[in-house]
Amino acid sequence: MRTSSLLIAALTLSTAAACSEPVTSASPDTSAHYVDPLAVPAKPTLDPSHFNSANDCASCHPSHTREWRLSRHAFAMRDPVFRRLVALRNEAKAHTEDGFCTQCHTTIGTRGGDCVEGFTFDTLKPVTLEGVTCEGCHKSTEVVRTYNAGHKVDGKAALGATLPDPAANAFHESRTAPHLASADFCGSCHDVVETSGLPLERPHAEWRTSPARDKGQTCQDCHMPSRTGPAAVGGASRQLHSHLFVGVETQVGGGANLSAQDKAEVNGAIEKLLGSAADLSLSVSQSAATAQQLDVVLTVTNRIAGHNFPTGSTFLRQVWVALTVTDAAGETVYATGDLDANGDLRDHWSELDPYGDSDLISLSSRFVDAQGNRTLFTWEAVEHTSDAVEPLRDRTWTLFVPVPAKAVGPLKVQAKLRFRAYGPFLLRLLGLANLVSGFPIWDIDTADATVQLTP
Ligand code: HEC
Ligand code: HEC
Ligand code: HEC
Ligand code: HEC
Ligand code: HEC
Repeated sequence: MRTSSLLIAALTLSTAAACSEPVTSASPDTSAHYVDPLAVPAKPTLDPSHFNSANDCASCHPSHTREWRLSRHAFAMRDPVFRRLVALRNEAKAHTEDGFCTQCHTTIGTRGGDCVEGFTFDTLKPVTLEGVTCEGCHKSTEVVRTYNAGHKVDGKAALGATLPDPAANAFHESRTAPHLASADFCGSCHDVVETSGLPLERPHAEWRTSPARDKGQTCQDCHMPSRTGPAAVGGASRQLHSHLFVGVETQVGGGANLSAQDKAEVNGAIEKLLGSAADLSLSVSQSAATAQQLDVVLTVTNRIAGHNFPTGSTFLRQVWVALTVTDAAGETVYATGDLDANGDLRDHWSELDPYGDSDLISLSSRFVDAQGNRTLFTWEAVEHTSDAVEPLRDRTWTLFVPVPAKAVGPLKVQAKLRFRAYGPFLLRLLGLANLVSGFPIWDIDTADATVQLTP
């Protein structure tokens, strides 16, 4: 009954739910201006003019450059949601922490004195706007901590990776940099801690205690799958690493201009990754009596050995189970995880039916502010509660579905495990309603069953 096929459905939304372990914030930083000597220095520690653009790599590394341009890394400083949130945060913090949000989205611009107090995106240097660009990674020299841009970068360093005996070339020196092949390197940006001390994103912390780590599997193994081919035009055949950095999101807005073919390639990679992420199973009795209740047991299994499902920016993402029960006359007997007319889940954030879906099963995480109210903003949050499933573990819910006396058998029970990068309510809140259609719902797994009715 379960199909492993992944479908992109048309539209909308998400979230709220159950059991959790709250992570409370540590000691708040109360200094007037936020400074971190490594990642958000008070004075520039890098010279942006020492860094080449990705455009300079294309002639010799066309496939790496093409893939990187399609990746989220290339978009880290142009993403419209990022820009809106940064503007809100910088204003809320009276411009005392303007380098905080940019420290990982552009190490070069933040350490190079470009993202200073009161900066505006439009006037930043081209290399800063390249976001997580080639030389930001390939001129890194050492990981010193696995959160908040915790690696050193040296503008005069040779370009590092792990090719055995790299051929000489006229453009750059090469350097063996084993740390680039480590999960710690990815973790140095992918684990995010707010200035309040509240952990926001922690795929690397999750990986550290995961089965993947035990078997030596890194982030690169899943997010940079390898193939063979020349590392540079005309070079020998090598073990290469995909620079699509496949995740869950396509480029949308902010000047993104993907050809239909590129879009299909990125979407195909996302579909494949998400399809490997988790399974949904459904168990229900074969028959039920009208005017009684039907017990529907749903289980979500995280198939990822390396981290929770979901992971990363789980407070922005929507991950949920949609269940509908219809009778033979086509009447909807029951629904949860369905969308309101705005395309939003009927949860806390729904404008049309807030908390209308009391059975909603959501795996997203949520923030609470100092007054105990829900918030979407990291800088207002004092508590972060996750409902994610741990690596290779599962979680089960039982829904009690009342079967109306007039229902006509048999009943069709259909469940979907759904994922969406952003709910429409968030995009509307940020003034980006025009982007809603760019964030489709992915059906990660589906399951269904038929139930005979006895009077
Ligand atoms: C420690 C490094 C780091 C810091 C600091 C950081 N980010 Fe990010 N940000 C990331 C990483 C890594 C991702 C990708 C995670 C994912 O997709 O789940 C990301 C993703 C995002 C996204 C999603 C982009 C998209 O479209 O996929 C937004 C929006 C965002 N960050 C906003 C912010 C804001 C606002 C701040 C400041 C409060 C901030 N970030 C600070 C590393 C960081
Ligand atoms: C004139 C051609 C040329 C240009 C331009 C060029 N490279 Fe290279 N690069 C090479 C060659 C050749 C190799 C070695 C390939 C091999 O041995 O298979 C190489 C190797 C590398 C390696 C592997 C180093 C190692 O030790 O494992 C990295 C990383 C790299 N280049 C990054 C870049 C980046 C980033 C740019 C742009 C800023 C760039 N290259 C521009 C020709 C070039
Ligand atoms: C065993 C394969 C595997 C490993 C190892 C792995 N990932 Fe993932 N990752 C996935 C899959 C599958 C997804 C899609 C499902 C999800 O979002 O959880 C994903 C999603 C992500 C996302 C996007 C989350 C979002 O919703 O925005 C980020 C960011 C990420 N991984 C970072 C990492 C980092 C960092 C590491 C190493 C510390 C890592 N991953 C290791 C398989 C893996
Ligand atoms: C987010 C960090 C990051 C960015 C950005 C990045 N790379 Fe890489 N690159 C890596 C990692 C990690 C490896 C593989 C290291 C390993 O496992 O051996 C790699 C490997 C390479 C190699 C060696 C061949 C291979 O595939 O292993 C080349 C060449 C290269 N990158 C070029 C580029 C170019 C050109 C760009 C920009 C257009 C770029 N990289 C952007 C992280 C990055
Ligand atoms: C310099 C900081 C930095 C480093 C190092 C880094 N990343 Fe990222 N990564 C980011 C940021 C910032 C984003 C979010 C960009 C956006 O969506 O706007 C991101 C996004 C991603 C995504 C896309 C997630 C999604 O939502 O689709 C994946 C996958 C990813 N990174 C994998 C990796 C892997 C694997 C490594 C290690 C080889 C790595 N990253 C190293 C900063 C970094």
